Amino acid sequence: MRKTILDFQKMVENKEKITFLTAYEYLTAKYEERAGIDMILVGDSLGMVCLGYDKTFPVTMDEMISHSKAVRRGAPNTYVVGDMPYMSYQISDEEAIKNAGRFIQEADCDCVKLEVAGPGTVKRIKAIVDAGIPVMGHVGLTPQFAGMLGGYKAQGKSAAAAEKILNLAKSVEEAGASSILVEGVPAIVGKLIKENLSIPVLGIGAGSYVDGQLLIYADMLGFYDDFTPKFVKKYAEIGKQMQGAFEEYVKEVREGVFPEDGVHAYKISDEEAEKIKKDFNLK
Ligand code: KIV
Repeated sequence: MRKTILDFQKMVENKEKITFLTAYEYLTAKYEERAGIDMILVGDSLGMVCLGYDKTFPVTMDEMISHSKAVRRGAPNTYVVGDMPYMSYQISDEEAIKNAGRFIQEADCDCVKLEVAGPGTVKRIKAIVDAGIPVMGHVGLTPQFAGMLGGYKAQGKSAAAAEKILNLAKSVEEAGASSILVEGVPAIVGKLIKENLSIPVLGIGAGSYVDGQLLIYADMLGFYDDFTPKFVKKYAEIGKQMQGAFEEYVKEVREGVFPEDGVHAYKISDEEAEKIKKDFNLK
């Protein structure tokens, strides 16, 4: 059964941790659902993980919708969060509502996430929520605002900076967000936000005190190796395993070891095989 925001609120009350991973396509989503994940984020990290960009800015709404649809096909019973890409909500309330609505209407997402930098983006949360669409606010290290933050750096590393993030998080809750994601802050700042908000607080690189944990699936599988953030724990070395399998395949095809006709080919009766040989003069 697909969980709802009420289930997540109950999990928080019961001190049960919420599990959250990214996915960008059908197969990964299918395995995550089979593993019992609570939430899936179709993140704009799609740009790096699947499309080979070095940042998220080039990702378009159409790409996000197409990948969100594939994730929904793989995980029909899981709460799916669609990530609003760069410039899909910054321009106006109208654009923000229209694009948020596409995630719900076209891709059957349960919620949209948007990065929050200040009052302008908080206002967008209110507009989307007023249109009846659940929103997860994203604060702390917000990659779409990396230029304003001075790069992709941990945030909230002084008391003053922590207070700024806390105030922003509070305004996200006041604007009507049903959950919040905190990225790239010290654990104590994750705790500060958790203890001052009443909506579920998810974290990625925000320590253990928050209500749930998100990781980018390709980081935790050891699949994406261009860069691995400090907070990632690798649960597998899928990239190495894939490369090993590809190398073995290349070797076996070159050496004529694969395929074995008795094993990896369609069968035909000896009688018909003989007839083909004879009729077409095959050796
Ligand atoms: O796009 C994404 O995967 C994200 C996470 C890094 C928080 O926004």
